[in-house]
Parts: sequence; C-alpha cells; structure tokens
Amino acid sequence: MLVFEKSRKGRRLSLLPECDVEVVLPEEKDKRKLALHMPELSENELSRHYTELAKKCHGVNDGFYPLGSCTMKYNPKINEDMAALKGFTDIHPLQPAHTVQGCMEVIKTAEEYLCGITGMERMTFQPAAGAHGEFTGLLLIKAYHESRGDKKRTKIIVPDSAHGTNPASAVMAGYSVVSIPSGSDGCVDLVKLKEAAGDDVAGLMLTNPNTVGLFDKNILEITRIIHECGGQCYYDGANLNAVMGMVRPGDMGFDVIHLNLHKTFSTPHGGGGPGSGPVGCKEHLAQFLPSVLVEGEEELSFVKPANSIGELKSFYGNFLVVVRALTYLMTLGKEGIPAASKGAVLNANYMMHKLKDCYTMAYEEVCMHEFVMSLSDLKKKTGVSAMDIAKGLLDNGIHPPTMYFPLIVDEALMIEPTETESKETLDGAADVFRKLYEIAQSDADKLHAAPVKTPVERLDEVEAARHPVLKYDFNREK
Ligand SMILES: Cc1ncc(COP(=O)(O)O)c(C=O)c1O
Repeated sequence: MLVFEKSRKGRRLSLLPECDVEVVLPEEKDKRKLALHMPELSENELSRHYTELAKKCHGVNDGFYPLGSCTMKYNPKINEDMAALKGFTDIHPLQPAHTVQGCMEVIKTAEEYLCGITGMERMTFQPAAGAHGEFTGLLLIKAYHESRGDKKRTKIIVPDSAHGTNPASAVMAGYSVVSIPSGSDGCVDLVKLKEAAGDDVAGLMLTNPNTVGLFDKNILEITRIIHECGGQCYYDGANLNAVMGMVRPGDMGFDVIHLNLHKTFSTPHGGGGPGSGPVGCKEHLAQFLPSVLVEGEEELSFVKPANSIGELKSFYGNFLVVVRALTYLMTLGKEGIPAASKGAVLNANYMMHKLKDCYTMAYEEVCMHEFVMSLSDLKKKTGVSAMDIAKGLLDNGIHPPTMYFPLIVDEALMIEPTETESKETLDGAADVFRKLYEIAQSDADKLHAAPVKTPVERLDEVEAARHPVLKYDFNREK
C-alpha cells in the first residue's frame, strides 16, 4: 500500500523543529497553482510504513547479494559513523575555504591514497558515478588531443565485453565507437585491435579484469598498441575490487581512470545513496582536470587548472561518499586493501569450483573477483533459462546475480560473491544453485513460476521498463 493510500486528512506528526527564522512567503505569482499533496500520517504509521518497505527489499544486510559487476559487498558501519560526524554534515559548500580545511584534508588524503593505489598523479572527486567519471575522463582525452592541434581523432575503441556505459560515454563525448571482438579466451583480440588502431583513434576504454572476470594477460601489449598509434588509454576502474593493492592501472599503461567508490571502496550504492566516480590521471592530463585541490602556504583550496575542461558537478562532488571511502581505506590499511582483493578472488574461484560440475562456465580459466556461467545448454535441455534460475534464487533469500550480461555470453549469469562473505554463506548459496539445477531437470514449471515467496510474484519486466508508473494518480481519490 502506498503512503498516499494510508494518508488521512488532518493526521499529523511533527518532525521538524519550530521555525526560528523570519517566514518569507513567495509572491502571489510564484505561488503553486495546485494544492500540495502530502501524505498525512501519525508518527507510528509512518515508522511502520518504512519498516514494511524495508522488509520488502533485499539488501546486503539481508543476505547474499552476488550481483556481478556491481560489487555489493558489506559496508562496515564505521564508515557511516564517520560520514555522520557533525564536522562533515553541518557544513555548507559556500563556506569560505579556511572554515572547512578538515574536509579539504579528507579529500587530499583520499586523493593521495587512491593515486597511490592506481598509479595516477592527480584526481578529481567531482563525478557522481562511474559513467560520469567515464565522460569526464574522455573529455580529458579530447582536450589533450585538441591541445596538440590533433583534430583527426574521432574514434574510441571499446571491447565488445565492455559495460554499456563505456560506448555510451564515448558517444556523449562526441566520439564514434569501434567495437573490438573478444577472443575465445575472453580477452581482447590483439589482431583486431591492431587493425583498428590508427591515427583517427583518440583512445581505448578497457576494464581489467574485464566483465567476464578475467585479467587480460596482454594488457601491456594492448596499451602499447594504443599509445603507438597516438591514442590514450582509459581504465574503467569498476572492477578494481579484484586487483586493488596488487597491480596498478598506471603501471598497466593507462593514462586516465575512474573508480567506483560506491562499489570498491564500500559505500551503499544503487538505491542506497549517492555515488562517486573520481577520475585520476597521469601528469600530462592533469592540466585539463576540473578544479583540483592545491596546498597554499596557509590553506588548502580548489584551483581550476589553466586548460581545465571546466567543472563537472557543483562544488566537490558527493563528499560524504569520499569520507566513507577514506574511512574504509584507513581501516584496512596497506595490508588490508590487497587482502580484500585476494579474498574477493578466492571467494569467486571457490564458488565457481563448487558449481562447475553442473553449470557450464563461460570460461574455464581461473577467474578474478567474478565469474560468468552460461545457461544455454540447460535452457536447451530443460527450458529453464537464466531468468528462471534467478527468480528461483529469490525464493531462497538470495539476490540474483547479474543476468544476461555480458552480452557476449548467451544466457549469462554473472556471480560476484565479494570478499565479505563467509565460507558458510558461499556453501549455502552453492547448495541453493545446485538444488535449482536439479529442479530444472525434474520440475521445470516450478522454476518458470518462481518467485512465489516474494512480496510480488514474477513481473512483466518489459511492461515495467517500457511503461513505468512513477507517480501517484491523485485523481484516484476522487
Ligand atoms: C564495468 C563497469 N563500468 C562502468 C560502470 C558504471 O558505473 P556507475 O553505475 O557508477 O555509473 C559499471 C557499473 O556497474 C561497471 O560495472
């Protein structure tokens, strides 16, 4: 039931303190023409409403959430405690710099740590998400070529396994996209890459490990080919969880990167809160960054580099996400960061090993932090699809893995257990996957009908995507 349906005229709760400033009403011309519809509830009704909604959702605090490519790991509560400190929350972005030096220090320290982990020189925290970071990074690449009078570079090379945001960002930055096929080993096809590399190529976008969970062993050759044709190399850092503290994108030959603080560096993401996709770059691109933090004689302040592409977001980006990320970095420290990556890789391989005698793995090799199964054979044999297995998982209290991605794997289920799950959780989840596999052979219809234990049963996803009902129709009340 929606909050508006529970609303009763005149019911009240007081959440806001008494107004202690002069009330200034808008002029007549600025007043709203229609009545403001606000739900009217008592405090306990409101509290129950949100508790009820929370119970209907599945989050990392409810159970296993192996959403490949999304790194839904547990976010330590200390991150929240730090982000809730009044010194961080009770500030205003227009405050003079000398009154928020502590916050600037947080950004500076986070920049130092993250540049150290990635092998970059400078970083901006403005982008609010990974895709926003990609767009920012591509603008840096564009500004670099233009500053050299090199206007013929109109293409960005993107492997066919890439996340959809990569080609989308390239197009938004004004480039055309050249898609490079992956070889049978899941890595970039070097022959095709060499064919595509030329003096019209502005750069390459790549994530390593890639979206099928494999570390591209030819990475140095790949970045060399791109540099040799005059292009720049962009690292999509969304999969850094597998390699942080172990290997640096800067050392792989990348010039510019983004990170997903809301994944790798442990901040609730998705519906859970704002994101942060900081962009780091090597020295030769730093002159194009949005405003960067500069340490003056007396204070830290933001200064726009001479050839800056301009600001990408108001003020300093989603600052409290940076506080959480820094807390996470400082808690784990130099030893804990690579240990987290090793745990992520170990857990993924453990689970892959537990499933590979029934499910078909898209690639047989040792995986990094995630692995992809293809349910193509199962579907042919039983009619049970990746979607059916995913829905069956919901009935067993497990959030489904990423489905039908990457696009190069038919009937894909992409599993990323993350390092924060115990052996018992992984064993329990593997048992559920195996049980569903057996049900697929014996009672396929049961899986076609799943889920049956969730607040809503199977939805028409196409209808929901094409015709979403996003606002309440107040006329219904009449
Ligand atoms: C490999 C990869 N690149 C880029 C992104 C985009 O990140 P965001 O969702 O923060 O825009 C994602 C998101 O899942 C991803 O998995």
